[in-house]
Amino acid sequence: MDLDQLRPDSERLAAGIDELSSFIESDHEGWTRRVLSEPYLDSRDWVRNRMRAAGLDVHVDVAGNTIGVLPGSGSRSRAIGTGSHTDTVGGGGRFDGIVGVLGAIETAERLQETGIRLQHDLMVIDFLGEEPNEFGVSCIGSRTMTGAVSRAFFAKQRPDGTSLGDELTRAGYSPAAMLDEAGAPNRLDGFVELHIEQGPVLEREGVQLGVVTAIAGIERVLASFLGRPDHAGTAAMRDRKDALVAAAEAILAVEQIGCSGEHSVATVGSIDVQPGALNVVPSLARLWAELRSPDPGWLGLARRQVAERFQTIAAERGIGLDLEWLNDQDPVPTAPAVQDLIAQTADSLGYTWRSIPSGAGHDAAHIAAVAPTGMVFVPSLDGRSHCPEEFTETAEIAVGVHALAATLVALDGRPSA
Ligand code: HGY
Ligand code: MN
Ligand code: MN
Repeated sequence: MDLDQLRPDSERLAAGIDELSSFIESDHEGWTRRVLSEPYLDSRDWVRNRMRAAGLDVHVDVAGNTIGVLPGSGSRSRAIGTGSHTDTVGGGGRFDGIVGVLGAIETAERLQETGIRLQHDLMVIDFLGEEPNEFGVSCIGSRTMTGAVSRAFFAKQRPDGTSLGDELTRAGYSPAAMLDEAGAPNRLDGFVELHIEQGPVLEREGVQLGVVTAIAGIERVLASFLGRPDHAGTAAMRDRKDALVAAAEAILAVEQIGCSGEHSVATVGSIDVQPGALNVVPSLARLWAELRSPDPGWLGLARRQVAERFQTIAAERGIGLDLEWLNDQDPVPTAPAVQDLIAQTADSLGYTWRSIPSGAGHDAAHIAAVAPTGMVFVPSLDGRSHCPEEFTETAEIAVGVHALAATLVALDGRPSA
C-alpha cells in the first residue's frame, strides 16, 4: 500500500488550528480555553461539527469525550483510537492538544479520500479536560473512559468549596454514570496520540518525529502551612508564626528535590496567602507542588522527601502543616510494539525520528492501561509550551499527521491488534 498518499492537506490543518484556537477566554493571556469554560464548551460544538464534516459518526460519551467514528470493514470487533485534548492551561498556547485532535480528524479524512478502508472502526477522540484543573486533577475524560476515577476523584474541591462532581453536574455530565463507566468493556485494540513535544530535544537535534518511550509519572500535593495572624508592626520577629516564610522555605526545598534525579523535575506552580494584607503576618499559605519523573523509584523517594522536609520546616517554625496528595499518576511505558510501528512507518516515509521520554502528562498515559498505546511527537519552537510563545510549523505538524495516519494503518493490520 502506498502510504505516501496519506500525506495530509496542510492548508486544511492550518485552517483548523486557526479556527479552534480562536475559542479563548478573553480575560486571560495567550490562547486560554480551560475545561468547562464557555469558550471550551463552544469549541466542543465546533469540534463536533468538524468531525461530522469529516464524515464521522459523532457522539459524546458519559465521560464527556467527543468521539467521531469512521466505520471499518467490520471484520474486527474492537476499534483503534487516536486523539488528544482541546482544553488548555491558563495562558496557554495554540498547539498543545489541538494538534492531536485535528491530526486525528485529518487522518480520518485522508483515509476516506484515498479509499483506504481499515478493518477496525477508527475512534477519533477529543478527551474531556486533560489539563490539571482548579480541583487539582487532570485527564477527566481518559481516566473515566478507562475506569480510573473514584468517588474521591469527583469529591475534590476547588478553593470555594465546590466539588468537581458538582461542577461536572452543572455542565450537564453525570459523575454517577462516569463512575459506572469503570465496568464498561474496553473498546480499543490500540491507540496512538500525536502531540507537540513541549520540550527542546527534537528541534535541538533537527529530528522530525519523536517516538515516545514513556510518559512521566506525576505526583501533585496541596501543602497548607498554618501560622498565626499578627500585626505586622508590633509582632516581634522571634515571636511570629509566619505561614508564608515557611512556604518560601518549602518552595526552595521542592526545587532542590527536583534537581536530584536524571529526568526529574519539581515545580510549585501556585500559591495562596491569607489574609493577604500588607500589614498582617500571613496566617495561611497554601502551595500546590508537583513532582515528575519517568522513574517510579525517584518519584516515591521524592514524595517522601517532600513530606519530611515540609514537616521539619513547619516544626522548626512552630506552625501547623496539612498535606493533601492530589494526584498519583505512575510513569507509563508506551507499548514497544507500537513504538516499533511508529519507527518503521517513519523510516518507510523517509522521516527522521528518535526515541524520547515525555516529561508532559497525556491522555495516552491512561489509555495505555487498557490498550497497546503509543505517541508521536513533533518539534516545539525553542522547546516552549504552556505559554503564548508555543509554536510548531504547519509543515512539521503535517509530517506528524502523515506518520500518525500511516501508523494507524499499520496498527490496523496487526494480527493481534
Ligand atoms: O501537565 C502536563 O504535563 C500536560 O500538559 N497536561
Ligand atoms: Mn498541556
Ligand atoms: Mn497536552
